[in-house]
Amino acid sequence: MARSIDDLQLSGKRVFVRVDFNVPLDEHQKVTDDTRIREALPTLKRVLQLGGKLIVASHLGRPKGVDPKLSLEPAARVLSDALGKPYEVLLADDCVGDGVRKMVKDQTPTQVVLLENLRFHKEEEANDPAFARELAENADVWVMDAFGTAHRAHASTAGMAPFVKERAAGYLMVKELEFLGKLLKSPAMPYVAVLGGAKVSDKMKVIENLLPRISSLIVGGAMAYTFLKAQGVEVGKSRVETDKLDLARRALEAAERLGKAVVLPIDHIASTDPTGNGPIREVKERALPTEMMGLDIGPRTRALFAEHLRPAHTVLWNGPMGLFEVAAFSAGTKAVAETIAGLRDATTVVGGGDSAAAVQEFGLAKKMSHVSTGGGASLEFLEGKELPGVKALES
Ligand code: 3PG
Repeated sequence: MARSIDDLQLSGKRVFVRVDFNVPLDEHQKVTDDTRIREALPTLKRVLQLGGKLIVASHLGRPKGVDPKLSLEPAARVLSDALGKPYEVLLADDCVGDGVRKMVKDQTPTQVVLLENLRFHKEEEANDPAFARELAENADVWVMDAFGTAHRAHASTAGMAPFVKERAAGYLMVKELEFLGKLLKSPAMPYVAVLGGAKVSDKMKVIENLLPRISSLIVGGAMAYTFLKAQGVEVGKSRVETDKLDLARRALEAAERLGKAVVLPIDHIASTDPTGNGPIREVKERALPTEMMGLDIGPRTRALFAEHLRPAHTVLWNGPMGLFEVAAFSAGTKAVAETIAGLRDATTVVGGGDSAAAVQEFGLAKKMSHVSTGGGASLEFLEGKELPGVKALES
């Protein structure tokens, strides 16, 4: 494991912390979910406590050039409120250049410099070495705490590492790697993985990597219909990835060879209309009528999933059980969230993205052992891939 900030002497040093403040904004440019900012606070506060000159950097969205709508200004406000007095957050008008250099040079110990959106420069995503070197000019220490962006080999997440004197992982990074790492290395058994979401293709490599490690696999969400179809079940108009049927079949065969149960829905909440405005029906069996699409798991499936989850000592959950954004199709996701949150004596880890948003919305995040801040990053980690942002820390 890479060094953490506790292993370094930070006093008086310019500490560049790469965070993931890629947070959702509403139409008034207000942050609607500040989890990623709050999760970065322990690292940021510690750097300040230790007398480091704190420089914070992040991307926001996927801008093509400078885009005022994707300024980090809303994040600066949240950060400023969260740090409170005596700290002052100064938002730089860029992430490199003379203005930033001067701001950092004049920075007092109670000032925090937040650099403007790194992706306003295309060189960030291109991992351009000259740009990485320019970012590093304002840093004695590079702290990588952006777990959510650690699967990107960009200038600030990996490229600048060789240009700084010292590197360290932030506390969020350490926590994410500890919880997610345990899911691959030393999970307490029984270990149940619950996967859902729209696409089988997003989760196939995770399934392959997890199958030898888990006790059983529960599959819900639209991806379950590709599995059901692969078993020859009539799924009506449900969303199916026809080009992934073979892969689903192979995954089911692999599970059988390994003696791992794959638990699929046995009933459904279905409709002809995914907006929730059409007639909604509980279909009490595995097969769906030809004109209906499955949009959530039914009550018998909720009970079946709960039965499989109850004995677990380790649970990984990634992906909703239905179209939970529509209230009429959210009961399955909520039931699974409640079951996992209620487990005693189990390490419960929720992958980032939709399932993290769901547990936040249901007010259950605090009842989980860990809710990852990384969507794509946690999936790639669970696929067994080495994340460039983690590798850069180790080199
Ligand atoms: C995320 O939200 O998954 C991270 O911030 C990475 O963003 P990206 O997918 O635009 O690279």
